[in-house]
Amino acid sequence: MPDRVDGAAFFASNCAACHGATAQGNGPLAADLQAAPSNLTTLSRRNGGTFPKARALSYIYGDSEQAHLARVMPQFGGAMAEDLVPVEFDGIMTPTPRVLAALLAYLEAIQE
Ligand code: HEC
Repeated sequence: MPDRVDGAAFFASNCAACHGATAQGNGPLAADLQAAPSNLTTLSRRNGGTFPKARALSYIYGDSEQAHLARVMPQFGGAMAEDLVPVEFDGIMTPTPRVLAALLAYLEAIQE
């Protein structure tokens, strides 16, 4: 299974420019964006203490039906859709892109 180390590497290359190297929303591009990148270390705290795994996944993956909505963050799903691994969501094993599974493990591990 992909783990948090793989996720950290993917995060550094694809997410840190906006969200910051420590995922606190302070990347070098943040000041130039129309919306502030979220602090990703407080996802659990802002969700009553539980890591919002399914919501984080769907946000990162993107939703083609929401493509018309104003959204600053790019959608990553298209490029990831071919290499799937099973990840448990609410007790159900769900095919999930390998890099996203790694990213979720990483994000869950950095919650404050
Ligand atoms: C171009 C800048 C940019 C990049 C690159 C980017 N993000 Fe974001 N992200 C944002 C912004 C801005 C938001 C706030 C909502 C919005 O406007 O889209 C956000 C929101 C989020 C959220 C929702 C947080 C919440 O509060 O619910 C998650 C999760 C997230 N990003 C994860 C990631 C991950 C993981 C990556 C890399 C795969 C990534 N982002 C890459 C700019 C970016």
